[in-house]
Amino acid sequence: MSPLFNAEDSIQKILVPKEEIEEITSRLAEQISRDYADDPYQVVLLIILKGSVPFAADLMRKLTIPVQLEFMKVSSYGASTKSSGEIKIHLDLNRNDLQDLDIIIIEDIIDTGHTLNRLTQLLKNRNAHSVRTCTLLDKPSRREVDFTPDYCGKQIPDEFVVGFGLDYNEEYRSLPYVGVLDPRVYSGS
Ligand code: PRP
Repeated sequence: MSPLFNAEDSIQKILVPKEEIEEITSRLAEQISRDYADDPYQVVLLIILKGSVPFAADLMRKLTIPVQLEFMKVSSYGASTKSSGEIKIHLDLNRNDLQDLDIIIIEDIIDTGHTLNRLTQLLKNRNAHSVRTCTLLDKPSRREVDFTPDYCGKQIPDEFVVGFGLDYNEEYRSLPYVGVLDPRVYSGS
């Protein structure tokens, strides 16, 4: 990306302005805080790198329950590849004591659903006490597996979105809003 990179010129429209993100994180934090208020187990926010970092940072500071933080970096393979059913772990948890943990996986977006579906299964197989999922954005029209996140910020149409953690070629993650990328950016014209 050129050092002259300018988000203003690359974003076609703002889909989720920062004020709405603020409302979403407040609503989800309230729900989660209520649901886990009397939880006798340790609640862990499992932050999936890299895209969910801004969302997780905002969400965690609005929670009124104690939580621990863990991080993973994973990628899944689409159903059409030989690796279907597999999840590739680039960075794993550094603990095995999952039986006493109530894990909430934090994602920026659910698309085909393979990543959250397989990650949830993996953590259950490792005997986590419970596993729930929380995503800022959901593109239900793209789903390839039957998976519904427990906490969802906003359903969006199938458009190429960047910002607030979401990238195109690692750019745009630091934008304070979610915007639709101008197709000229990725079509090369
Ligand atoms: C994105 C997103 C989810 C996954 C969702 O991650 O953060 O992890 O894709 O897609 P799915 O529902 O089709 O599985 P990405 O691989 O782009 O990594 P990043 O967060 O580091 O950008």
